[in-house]
Amino acid sequence: MAKQFDTVVKGGTIYTATDTYVADIGIKGEKITAIGMNLQAAGADVINARDLQVIPGGIDPHVHLQLPFCGTVSSDDFYTGTRAAACGGVTTVLDFAGQGTHDNLMAGIEARMKEARDKVVIDYSLHTMVTGFKKLKNPLKEFQRLMEFGVASHKMFMIYEREGWNATDDDIFGAMLAAQEVGATLCMHAESEKVMNYLVGMALKKNLGAYGHVVSRPNFIEEEAIQRAIKWASATGAHLYVVHMSTGGGAQLFKEAQAKGINVHVETCPQYLVLNDEVFKDKKTGHYYATCPQIKKKEDCERMWKGLQDGEVAVVSTDTCTFTTKQKAMWNGDFTRIPFGMPGVETLLPSVYSFGVRGGKFSLNHFVSLIATNPAKIMGMYPQKGTIMVGSDADLSIIDPDESRIIDYKKLASNCDWSPFQGWKLYGFPKFTLSRGTVLVRNGKFDEKAGRKGRGRFVKRGPFGWRNLSRPWYVPDHKPQVPAELFGEGAKSDNSGRKRAAVGV
Ligand code: URP
Ligand code: ZN
Ligand code: ZN
Repeated sequence: MAKQFDTVVKGGTIYTATDTYVADIGIKGEKITAIGMNLQAAGADVINARDLQVIPGGIDPHVHLQLPFCGTVSSDDFYTGTRAAACGGVTTVLDFAGQGTHDNLMAGIEARMKEARDKVVIDYSLHTMVTGFKKLKNPLKEFQRLMEFGVASHKMFMIYEREGWNATDDDIFGAMLAAQEVGATLCMHAESEKVMNYLVGMALKKNLGAYGHVVSRPNFIEEEAIQRAIKWASATGAHLYVVHMSTGGGAQLFKEAQAKGINVHVETCPQYLVLNDEVFKDKKTGHYYATCPQIKKKEDCERMWKGLQDGEVAVVSTDTCTFTTKQKAMWNGDFTRIPFGMPGVETLLPSVYSFGVRGGKFSLNHFVSLIATNPAKIMGMYPQKGTIMVGSDADLSIIDPDESRIIDYKKLASNCDWSPFQGWKLYGFPKFTLSRGTVLVRNGKFDEKAGRKGRGRFVKRGPFGWRNLSRPWYVPDHKPQVPAELFGEGAKSDNSGRKRAAVGV
């Protein structure tokens, strides 16, 4: 009998965001080509998935691999970071391409792709980092060109003046006008820098150690910035996606904005769900936990779990930005100098699975929506990624629901000598991870040969994904508020017009 499939996943329970059923999955080449009962497995690599949970491979839309930041470079590079991702059941990551000193964004994308190309083990895509909006000659053309290339999202920062990354309100407004014209997404790091710096100045006088990081960033620092970003999204009609949200108040703002039909989405990360700011009080290790924004209070964790349950928080990403204890030691007692970030991509699925699904907060289907389907839709990769469907890439994570691990950083694949979850018992690690049909993790072990460096591919994304979200309140029915008189040929998002206005012409 002729071989029909290269791989057959036999008898597992398939969980998508909407369905649960027992079936075989037939894979030919890189794609799922059949789903059904008793698929013909002659000559195929058969994965016995009986009593196992078969879910789409995780999508982490927010990682920073080998990022030059805070005077050092994040320690997981495109190889160790994507290998760690596969070990944790993640099959696609989205990283960021800095603008640097360029007057365009494409140069950064090309440079970042060069860094990633020979190292990535799983598929990846890139957001730009718009750190010099005023330098862009024609943002609309720039976003259009990037959209055609498959880059559908751009990150802006309301902080990081020291890094030269921060965007002012007029930058954000101009970028949103251009983004909404081409259907691009504006990703936003929302923290209120000026007020935060004022508080940092006050905290520096108090000798609080790493806890100074906490008191200089009270919740209103994030909430005010989120409110402002939502306001500009509402005015321009742009699709806003706030990254790494850490506050309960932020979740409330999203609930209210979405109820009005404003086109906004938000992600949070495991560190904001399962850790709280007590971690900073440990004199020896407190500074390891410094991220930006920082970890907040228990009440914030609870409100964000509720947001995930109810839907206003649509995605759990990680903001992986790994720094070793040696790199963290660079702070030398000054909380403003701690390299901000932590490892995470490898423990994304296990942490959300353990506390969300096993913790009784939501179903495994809902879990799938948070870690695969929603990020795929929002970031314009659906249904190539983010679901189990005939025609989709054969990206799968297969979990034994009864199997747990005690986290020990020495046994994790991440290039890091600590873990925020050290000693914790976590469920939800993959027994098998498949990336475009290739079995990268088999019986819990990474296959070095199959998972060769550079096998991962750049995923071209499109503008349409977010329109497909199934919840009715995500359908953008909100009318932008920029006066119609200002619209017309070249008037919306051409920086030259802005310059003229600035000099009063
Ligand atoms: O602590 C963090 N988040 N490091 C990475 C940079 C960023 O703002 O995402
Ligand atoms: Zn950020
Ligand atoms: Zn980040």
